[in-house]
Amino acid sequence: MRAIAILLACTLIGWTSALGPGSPAPGVDGVTGVQEPATTPAPQRAVLVTGASSGIGRTTAEVLAKKGFFVYAGARKETDLKELDAIENVQAIRLDVTVPAEIDAAFKIVEESGRGLYGLINNAGVVVVAPLIEVTQEDFDFQMDVNVAGPYRVTKAFAPLLIESKGRVITTGSISGIMAWGLGGLYAMSKHAVEAYTDALAMELAPFGVKVSVVEPGNYKSKITTSMKERLEARGYTTEGSRYQGQLEGLLRSRLDRGQYKDPDEVAEAFVHALTSEQPKLRYMVVPNQQEAALTIRAAMNKVVQLNQDQPYTYTRDELVEMLDGMLATGR
Ligand SMILES: NC(=O)c1ccc[n+]([C@@H]2O[C@H](COP(=O)([O-])OP(=O)(O)OC[C@H]3O[C@@H](n4cnc5c(N)ncnc54)[C@H](OP(=O)(O)O)[C@@H]3O)[C@@H](O)[C@H]2O)c1
Repeated sequence: MRAIAILLACTLIGWTSALGPGSPAPGVDGVTGVQEPATTPAPQRAVLVTGASSGIGRTTAEVLAKKGFFVYAGARKETDLKELDAIENVQAIRLDVTVPAEIDAAFKIVEESGRGLYGLINNAGVVVVAPLIEVTQEDFDFQMDVNVAGPYRVTKAFAPLLIESKGRVITTGSISGIMAWGLGGLYAMSKHAVEAYTDALAMELAPFGVKVSVVEPGNYKSKITTSMKERLEARGYTTEGSRYQGQLEGLLRSRLDRGQYKDPDEVAEAFVHALTSEQPKLRYMVVPNQQEAALTIRAAMNKVVQLNQDQPYTYTRDELVEMLDGMLATGR
């Protein structure tokens, strides 16, 4: 099914990771061979990544740690916490974004460590695939609880530290935040919410010097769909009685391990840019190929066309082109 082929819909050209955050090491003067006086090392910038046990979050945590950030890596399972803790520059933190007590405990750990917090990456996410007219209230709540309420809760909790550091908040959206696909309505709704959340949060935090971005990946390797399948199997899910039985069965038979997709390294690079650039972008669409770019850009442009047509305050083609030229010139 084509809709499934663009599941979790959704290059980065030459981004360099400006401003590596590590401490400069004292060196030896190249001319005199004399040991330079040790300068006060710049403190490592700390970043919290939620959902760091696998996929995009895991890759991002590893990339940031390698670049010299101190990474608080949020995870839920003991084995993941241990694995993450073993990485240099990483401290694992037990963090389920739907559990306020765990968010409070994570805040305490970060606050007491005295490093402050420069960056928050709201990455934890799940996907629920189900027809909108059949999905249970429980599944609806689950999807929104993790993907929408999660970033809201964690950002709210850590806002004092982020304001203090004039830091960055970055949320993992998706190209499903720009378009939607049949049976993926709930997921697309959650990622559309992340888009609005980012726009409003950016306005609200700008006066405090905190910059806000959303990274919108296309399809990359991760365990998001195998986790979905495991949840379905655990509760004995059956497609029987569904009006969409054929499509759902096709979906469940399709390749859910996402092994056909690229590793999410370029997604991690977008987070690096959003954390280190003097002028981070508000939106980072990161897709693995032209086809996913086309689907997304066309979906965004389609909305403009639909909004504009057959209403009293419509714009002409020339006026639209002029508007577009202005936006292309300023990037906004
Ligand atoms: N991969 C893609 O192609 C793609 C495309 C667009 C957007 N995204 C987005 O990227 C983000 C990461 O997903 P992924 O694809 O990398 O999938 P993934 O490998 O399944 O990673 C999801 C992460 O979120 C965690 N998580 C799930 N529920 C959580 C909760 N209640 N509290 C805290 N953590 C929780 C998972 O932890 P556990 O291991 O404990 O379950 C895991 O660490 C998601 O927001 C997803 O929507 C992914």
